[in-house]
Amino acid sequence: MAYNDLRMDNQWLPFTPNRSFQKDPRVFVAAEGMYFTTHDGRQVIDGISSLWCVGAGHNRKPINEAIKQQLDTLDYSTAFSVSNDKAFRAAEMIAAMAPGDLNKVLFCNSGSEAADTSMKVALAYHRARGEGHRNIFIGRERGYHGVGFGGMSVGGIPANRKVYGASLLPRVDHLRFIHDPVKHAFIHNVEPVWDEDLLLELENRILPLHDPSNVAAVVVEPVAGSAGWYVPPQGYLKRLREICDRHGILLIFDEVITGFGRLGTAFASDYYGVQPDMLNFAKAVTNGVIPLGGVVCTDRIYDAMMGAHGSAPDHAIEFFHGYTYSGHPVACAAAIATLDLFREENLFARAGEMGPVLGDAMHAALKGLPNVIGVRSFGLAAAVELAPMPGLPGKRAFDAFMDCYHRGVLVRNAGDNLVFAPPYIVDRAQIETMVGTLADAIKRLA
Ligand SMILES: Cc1ncc(COP(=O)(O)O)c(C=O)c1O
Repeated sequence: MAYNDLRMDNQWLPFTPNRSFQKDPRVFVAAEGMYFTTHDGRQVIDGISSLWCVGAGHNRKPINEAIKQQLDTLDYSTAFSVSNDKAFRAAEMIAAMAPGDLNKVLFCNSGSEAADTSMKVALAYHRARGEGHRNIFIGRERGYHGVGFGGMSVGGIPANRKVYGASLLPRVDHLRFIHDPVKHAFIHNVEPVWDEDLLLELENRILPLHDPSNVAAVVVEPVAGSAGWYVPPQGYLKRLREICDRHGILLIFDEVITGFGRLGTAFASDYYGVQPDMLNFAKAVTNGVIPLGGVVCTDRIYDAMMGAHGSAPDHAIEFFHGYTYSGHPVACAAAIATLDLFREENLFARAGEMGPVLGDAMHAALKGLPNVIGVRSFGLAAAVELAPMPGLPGKRAFDAFMDCYHRGVLVRNAGDNLVFAPPYIVDRAQIETMVGTLADAIKRLA
C-alpha cells in the first residue's frame, strides 16, 4: 500500500499528541535489526527497543519462523478449561528463568493486564487465607503500571491519573519517589547511596496510618522506567522486602521493562538479589513481536488458592480471572523462540556489556550541555533530564525527540527526560550516533 493512499485521520494514536502528529506524521513501514524504514524511505535507528520490547532487534528470523509454523499448526485455541502445548512450554521456560519459587505463570496480553491480574491475585490470595480485610495497595509516586484501573491507581504519574479522580481504586497509598534531583542528578551505573532512609516513611507513617494488617501488597517497578529511568537507592529493594515480610504484605515487582535482560540479568530481581511474591512481565518476552504478558506467582500463592478450595467440588474454579487470549499459542510460540534466541546469542550478557558503553557516551556527551540537569545510566538504558521550559513542561524534550527523529534516531521523551534503551544487539558506533544526534538536538534547541 502506498503511503499516499493512507488515510491518517481514522487512527487515534495512544499516548501521542495527535494534533501535532497530523501535521508531521511519522510512519514506519519496515524494520530490520536496529533500524526502521520510514514511509519516505529513510532509516531511523530504534534507540528505545520500540518501548523496551525488541531486545533481540527487529525482524529476527527464528521468531518469525516459529510464529509462521505455529499459525500452520495450531492457530488458536481457547484458554478456558483447555490449553495448548506452547503455553505450557512457555510457562515452563519463564518459571525456570524466574528466581526462587516463582513457578506459576498466569498469562495475559500486556503489562497493564499483568498489573491488574497481580493485584487481583493479591486480593484473592489474602481472602483464601482468611485475610480478606487486606485490601490496601501501596504503589509509588511516578510509578507506571499501565492504564487499567488497578495499575493506574497504584501508578503515580500525575498526568495519567488526573482525569480519572474518583474512578481510581480507593484504599491506595504511595511511597515517595526515589530521586533526589540535587544529590543524585548524575548517576552512572551505580546505585545511589542516600543519607536518608527513604523507606522510613513506609514504616513510620504509611503502614501505621492504614495498619499493616490491612495492606494487601506493595507494587513497584524495581527501576522506575516510564517516569524516565530512575534508580532506587542502594539497599532499597532488600529493605522493602524485609518490611513486607515483617507484616505479611505481598511484594509485587513490575518487571515489564526490567524483565528479560535490560539490566544484564534475566530479571531485576536477579540483579538486586530480591525475590518478589509476584513478578509481572510483558514486552521483551516475545521481543515485542506479538502481545504477551503475565504474572509469575510463588508456589505459596498458588497453593493457598488451591488449598482454600480443598473441600470444594472438582468442577469449582479457584480464581475467577483470565483473558480470551491468555496463553495464546502464537504468542507463546513467539515467547519460546525469543527466550531461546536470548540464550543462544547470550543477549542478556550483551546488554550488561553495552550498558556501560551507553552510560559512558551519555555522560561524556551530555553533561554540561545547556538545560541538562541530570543524566542517569543503569543497565542498558540511560536518560537525560532537561530543565522544563517555564510554563511548558515536556516541550523541551518533545522538541528534542522530534529533532532526533528527523535526523534518524528514535528516542523516548518522558516528561522532560529523553531516554535511550536500545536493543541488546546495539553496537558502539550506533550508540555514538544515537547519543551524538541527541547532543546536537539539545544544543540546537538551546
Ligand atoms: C513497568 C510497566 N508496567 C506496565 C506497563 C504497561 O504495559 P502495556 O503498555 O503493555 O499495557 C508498562 C509499559 O510501558 C511498564 O513500563
